[in-house]
Amino acid sequence: MIKKIAFMTGGGDCAGINAFIAAAVRQGIHQYQAEFVGIKKAFEGACSDRIEDHLLPLNLEAVNGLEVKPSTILESSRFNPFSKDNVEKGYPQKLLANLKKIGVDAVLATGGNDTIKSGMGLSKLNFPVISAPKSIDNDVSGTDTMLGYKTAITFGTAAVRSTVDSAKTHRRISIVEIMGREAGWLTLEIGIAGGADLILIPEKPVDLATLCDRIVALNQRQQYVNLVVAEGVRLKPDDPVLLRAKAENPVVKALVEEDLGIDSHGNPKLGGIGQILRRIIRTQLGLKKLEDVRATDLGFTLRGLAPVADDIVLGTRFGINAVDLLFAGVSGKMVGLQGTRIVTVDFADALVQKQVNWSENDLRSVGVVF
Ligand code: F6P
Repeated sequence: MIKKIAFMTGGGDCAGINAFIAAAVRQGIHQYQAEFVGIKKAFEGACSDRIEDHLLPLNLEAVNGLEVKPSTILESSRFNPFSKDNVEKGYPQKLLANLKKIGVDAVLATGGNDTIKSGMGLSKLNFPVISAPKSIDNDVSGTDTMLGYKTAITFGTAAVRSTVDSAKTHRRISIVEIMGREAGWLTLEIGIAGGADLILIPEKPVDLATLCDRIVALNQRQQYVNLVVAEGVRLKPDDPVLLRAKAENPVVKALVEEDLGIDSHGNPKLGGIGQILRRIIRTQLGLKKLEDVRATDLGFTLRGLAPVADDIVLGTRFGINAVDLLFAGVSGKMVGLQGTRIVTVDFADALVQKQVNWSENDLRSVGVVF
């Protein structure tokens, strides 16, 4: 019998998580007389020596007006209790003992791939867990969209439009780098809505000579070029244009060879492709000054945002349905949106990376280079 439910909000923060918490608390209290507590810093807080220092009690008063607030009130962490090392150190047992200590019977976890994996680990220990997908990357399967994605597109579009207008005014080449890990959704949709000329996404590898030819042609025609690039785009190591740029410019060589490391889930840390392309394009086009090509990194500006209406509505629907599932005795599932309906997805199905799958004709027509 479920009485007390804990929230954990792991992975990268984004908009809409607070709307999920607010709706779940309201639904749980009104429909099931449930109690709620937030565990700050997700699995890191839940596995800490003093879990009681990481708790935020959540009642109707605490969630009043919460749905419009940015990021997550529960902070976040990428700590992974189910990594090989942490399993050997006994963290899964510590997690269970801590949840028992604070009298929690079930967990609601918002997350991307990594938090869903941790939720799956917890549910395999027979502890009830329901997840709701959140990430600006929009890369979880079984759901059309995730919390935070629509807000990131809205804000990113405004930012790219501004760089587009500025590049027109100054007649120059502008590159905007956008997050998204190995998926190009965010860059693709912001690029289209923001009015970019050229779009680079990880799903469509590009050779640099083709890219530079396109830039030259556009530049001759309109005297400015706007390029958006996903952080997950990787250059082919033996691309002749890259080899030449590395040989001629030590900064390119250093940036390309820099090891950014991996996170606690084994994901490579990304970022910096915009600055690399800026230098390569300058060399290849024979431009005199580095400032003839400008690069902007939207970076974390797309993460700590207050939600747009779509994300408030999505968080609200996810919150209601996640609580209903727990009280119906369901565990080990993710809520998702398919079309206009809320659906229930197995964790294993959700974890298949959702990458851009538009037709080549559509991609080419909107400016994706490949
Ligand atoms: O998964 C969301 C995301 O913003 C990715 O787009 C990005 O690569 C990553 O998180 C950055 O992670 P961190 O906040 O750990 O630097």
